[in-house]
Amino acid sequence: MTPEQALEDLRQRGLLRSLKALPENRGRFLLNGEAWLNFSSNDYLDLAHHPALKAAAVRAVEELGCSAAGSRLTSGHLVLHETLETALAAFVGMDAALVFGSGFLTNLGVIPALAGDHATIFCDRLNHASLIDGTLMAGVKWHRYRHNDTAHLDDLLEKHPAAEGETRLVITDSVFSMDGDIAPLAEIAEIARRHGALLIVDESHAVGVMGPNGAGLCAELGLKPQAITCGMGKAFGSYGGFVACSVDLHALIVNRARSFIYSTGLPPAVIAASRAALDLFVEARGALGADLMDRARHMHALLADAGFDMPPFSSPILPVMVGDNHVALDFAARLADRRILCGAIRPPTVPPGTARLRLTVTRAHDAADLTAAARIFAEVGRDLGVLR
Ligand SMILES: Cc1ncc(COP(=O)(O)O)c(C=O)c1O
Repeated sequence: MTPEQALEDLRQRGLLRSLKALPENRGRFLLNGEAWLNFSSNDYLDLAHHPALKAAAVRAVEELGCSAAGSRLTSGHLVLHETLETALAAFVGMDAALVFGSGFLTNLGVIPALAGDHATIFCDRLNHASLIDGTLMAGVKWHRYRHNDTAHLDDLLEKHPAAEGETRLVITDSVFSMDGDIAPLAEIAEIARRHGALLIVDESHAVGVMGPNGAGLCAELGLKPQAITCGMGKAFGSYGGFVACSVDLHALIVNRARSFIYSTGLPPAVIAASRAALDLFVEARGALGADLMDRARHMHALLADAGFDMPPFSSPILPVMVGDNHVALDFAARLADRRILCGAIRPPTVPPGTARLRLTVTRAHDAADLTAAARIFAEVGRDLGVLR
């Protein structure tokens, strides 16, 4: 297929994606003088514009400039990076942490680093793309277990016992990014432990939102997997990613993770903003996440009352299932006509036949916003035959 044919093929299957520039993208924003609601943002706690984050970033730029100007193992490792890492580790209850350029780069680096060249990896079927790509980059054998199906995971581990000197890794999201549901982490941890496998949990959608003081779901359950990974472009309202693990695994990752070793350290402004967000989490003692969950639960109830077939409430990620790719696109376009931004999520991000609107509630949305949005969702849903 030529590039032109490939584009046409994507268009015909309702899978073409394109960029749309926005003048700004807060939970509520103005476009050509009209008020819009943004239900596509991962800025769950509405911190991206928080004065404390902005002030910390500006101070860091003034004192340290705009770039780390080197990889962390050369000259790009500032005291600022190290103090953030120490604070992150303490926050999620692990011994050490290492910051990467993004959540995606964290998973691309950590998985091959922990796998080495003699490993088998066991992944939830709906793991985030970065976990899948990290697994592929490890270049070792891997198996997918059915989504959240611990019996299937157990069975696969049983069927593929560790060979001499082989590492086995179990990898799961804690909150799944496109479905918003939660992994049975306690059971998964127990199964991994029983089979002598290492466990990596991606807490990108949980840290800041769930658990004691917002420390995530592992902390809530008292679990200490071998590694927790997390992006900081969501509840942190900042950017970057980190892994939290033991001191030894930290040293191994520093030595092996190519997306860490061969990449410029995050700039001071980003590190300072993440640190300010972390300070806000600690100060709020979980109140920010609890407030967000109340708002999200309310929106979930409004959508269910309107007749949408909602999965049980678990997180601020609320999938409004549509099924067909073209209908999902039409739904998103009609929402945009009513000044609601909500992305149509289609394959390959989600399995074929499960296109959806991925609605995220944030602390920028008040009760009136949620009521207005739920009404518009219902009207569009009825117009398109998604709702009877
Ligand atoms: C579960 C999960 N892991 C990792 C990432 C990647 O994080 P980042 O956006 O910081 O690259 C995402 C982002 O969408 C995610 O949802």
